[in-house]
Amino acid sequence: MNNDLSKKLLDWYVASGRDLPWRFKGGAHPSPYAVLVSEIMLQQTTVKTVLSYFERFMKRFPTVEALAAAPIEEVYLYWQGLGYYSRARALHASAKMIVSDFGGVFPFRKEDVRKLKGLGDYTVASFLALAFNLPETVVDGNVMRIICRLYHLTQPLDELKDIIRQKAEALTDKAHPADYASAIMDLGALVCTPKKPQCLLCPWKGACLSFGRADIEKIPLRIKPLKKEINGFVYIIRNQNGDVFIRKRTEKGLLSGLYEFPWSEGEIFAGAEKSGLIVTHIFTHIRMRLEICFVQTENAGDGFFVKAADLDLYPFSTLMKKVRQKALL
Ligand code: ADE
Repeated sequence: MNNDLSKKLLDWYVASGRDLPWRFKGGAHPSPYAVLVSEIMLQQTTVKTVLSYFERFMKRFPTVEALAAAPIEEVYLYWQGLGYYSRARALHASAKMIVSDFGGVFPFRKEDVRKLKGLGDYTVASFLALAFNLPETVVDGNVMRIICRLYHLTQPLDELKDIIRQKAEALTDKAHPADYASAIMDLGALVCTPKKPQCLLCPWKGACLSFGRADIEKIPLRIKPLKKEINGFVYIIRNQNGDVFIRKRTEKGLLSGLYEFPWSEGEIFAGAEKSGLIVTHIFTHIRMRLEICFVQTENAGDGFFVKAADLDLYPFSTLMKKVRQKALL
C-alpha cells in the first residue's frame, strides 16, 4: 500500500514536479552547498520569493569557501528583504564551520549536521535527503496537510504531531528519499493546496480519505495564537545638513545586525512631529504599526548621520524599507 503510494507520487513528480534552480531530479544533489543555502532561505520564505535571492546569492557566494570568507555585512546585503536575518548569520556561521571544522567537506552524518547553525529537525532531514539521498523524512506544513487529508485526521494539528510523523515516515520511499522529499513538497505546493486543492490531479486520490469530502479545505485544523500588537513611532531625524540618523541593531534578537531608524513603543519622544504616515508590518508573532515622525536635531545618541543618498549602503529590514519608502528616503 505505502509502496504503491510512493510509486504513484514519484511517477507524478517525474511528469509534473517543479524544476527549481536548487533542485536535482533523480538522486543526491551534486552540490550540498546549494541545498543548504536554499533550505535555509526556504525556512520562512516562499519559493517564489526565494528564486531571485538564491540566484543572486549563489552568484556572489558560489562556494562554501566564498561564503565563509565574506564579511557578515555583505551577507546581510544579499539577504536584505528576505527577513529573519538570524538565518543569514546562522548560514554564514555554518559555512565557516564547514570550512574550518570539516575541512570544506559537507557533513552527512546526522550528529554532525546537527552541529551546524540554523538547522532544526526539518532542515536537517531535508538537507540529508536532498544533498545525500539519505532516507530521512521531511515533515513541514505541506506534508502535515497532505497526511491529515490522506487519513482524514480532523483533530487540531497540535494534537496530531506524533501520528503525522509516524505516518510520514511509513510513507517515505527509502530507495528514493531525495526525489520523494521533493515530490511531497511539490504535491503540497501544486495539488494539495490549503485552498481549492486540485484533487482530480492528485496521484493519491484513490487512497485519500478526504477526496470528494466537503471539509477538505478545513483540514488540517489550525488554532492560531493571537499576534501581539506593537504600536509606536519611528523617527526620521535630520541634522542641519539634511543628513539622516540611523543606528545598528544589537547583535541579538529580532533583526539584529541590520540598520534602522530609531523607533519607540507607546509614547512619542518629546519634540518629534507626527506625520500621519503609518507603516505596518507583520512578523511571526507580532503585528507592528508605526507612525512616522520627523525630528530636527544635531545629536541623537547612539548611531550616526548619513547622507540620504548613501542609505542604500546599509542593510535594512523590510519594515525599515517600508519606512524609507513612505518617508520618501
Ligand atoms: N521548502 C523547503 N524546502 C524546499 C525545497 N527544497 N523545494 C521546495 N520547497 C521547499
